[in-house]
Amino acid sequence: MADVNRTWVLARRPHGTDFTGALELSDGVVPELAEGEVLVRNALLSLDAGTRMWMNPREDSYSPPTPLGSPVIGMVLGTVVASRHPDFRQGDLVRAYGQWSDYSVCQPDVAYAERLSWRLDDLRQYLAVFGPNGWTAYLGVLEYTQTKPGDTFVVSAASGVTGALAGQIAKQHGCRVVGITGSAAKCAWIVDELGFDAAIDYRSEDVSEALARLCPEGIDVYFDNVGGDILDAAMANMALFGRVGICGLIVNYDKDEPIPGPYKFDQILMKRLTLVGFFSPDFYHRGPDVDRKMRPWYEAGKLKMEFDVTEGLENTLDAYAKLFNSAKVGKSLVQLEELRP
Ligand SMILES: NC(=O)c1ccc[n+]([C@@H]2O[C@H](COP(=O)([O-])OP(=O)(O)OC[C@H]3O[C@@H](n4cnc5c(N)ncnc54)[C@H](OP(=O)(O)O)[C@@H]3O)[C@@H](O)[C@H]2O)c1
Repeated sequence: MADVNRTWVLARRPHGTDFTGALELSDGVVPELAEGEVLVRNALLSLDAGTRMWMNPREDSYSPPTPLGSPVIGMVLGTVVASRHPDFRQGDLVRAYGQWSDYSVCQPDVAYAERLSWRLDDLRQYLAVFGPNGWTAYLGVLEYTQTKPGDTFVVSAASGVTGALAGQIAKQHGCRVVGITGSAAKCAWIVDELGFDAAIDYRSEDVSEALARLCPEGIDVYFDNVGGDILDAAMANMALFGRVGICGLIVNYDKDEPIPGPYKFDQILMKRLTLVGFFSPDFYHRGPDVDRKMRPWYEAGKLKMEFDVTEGLENTLDAYAKLFNSAKVGKSLVQLEELRP
């Protein structure tokens, strides 16, 4: 075991995507475990948009802010190298809340940690289709927004992991699916590779006009990953009794203050809309059940995913900024080492 444990520490609150000005890579020793803890050698770090929110000092978010001077917390996939927890053994493959570091100290009785099988064909999918993003997409589409076959379904951040899965799940469920994303190439990917019916490039098109053209009967379900102007454009084009699922509001995350809106709030009354928010830790316990339901689609090639993999812990910040500046497709990961049973 290497005796140095490098860790990304939140030294200052970031402004925008200036992560290099806010986070520092500190050298430490591999921690000693307390009773109930598990030491995981991180193989993959999951880069999640929501992590940016914890870097802000907001007290009214769904998780408390990361205290200055502490490690950045995130979902990791890795192997157990030491355990003082009865349910985890050396060599186990685990997905858990850990740290952006070489090793994670996990506390399974306090925060999410789960032992996994080594049998999945592509272990990266434990952080994509068969992980919190997949569960959020599945339950967001089929339960929270009550999406029905035949619905016109629109999703934003459609070339990112959660949006790409939500659109593919809606498609499998018999919907007409329109995705909103940030370039012509990404539009081509979601239509040609993922099977969406249509795509809108929010950087070069008027989103409201494009939605009106592509959804002439109105949008039955809008799965929002973005907020801001795109949420307003969708609100203006909803069908009567439509549903809006608030999965994420990424335009807010790197702002010092949340941006105001939606300005089309009155459409909730005019169109008798239902708005619903959902948050994956509320349903982590349902993950195995959702995985079983998605497996046939995955095995039939109906749930596809690209991976944007960056090698090396030291390159984490550049990789993370790509979530906010439209510089990647699919699921973002940092790879620290190869996973081997
Ligand atoms: N509720 C939950 O439990 C839950 C769970 C997972 C994720 N989420 C939410 O889902 C959303 C996506 O997160 P993710 O982790 O899956 O990351 P992701 O979608 O893989 O990456 C973020 C995507 O957001 C898009 N984006 C960034 N800034 C934007 C802007 N200003 N306007 C429009 N699009 C923008 C980018 O796509 P383009 O290239 O198209 O610009 C980027 O690909 C986030 O809002 C996140 O909070 C929520």
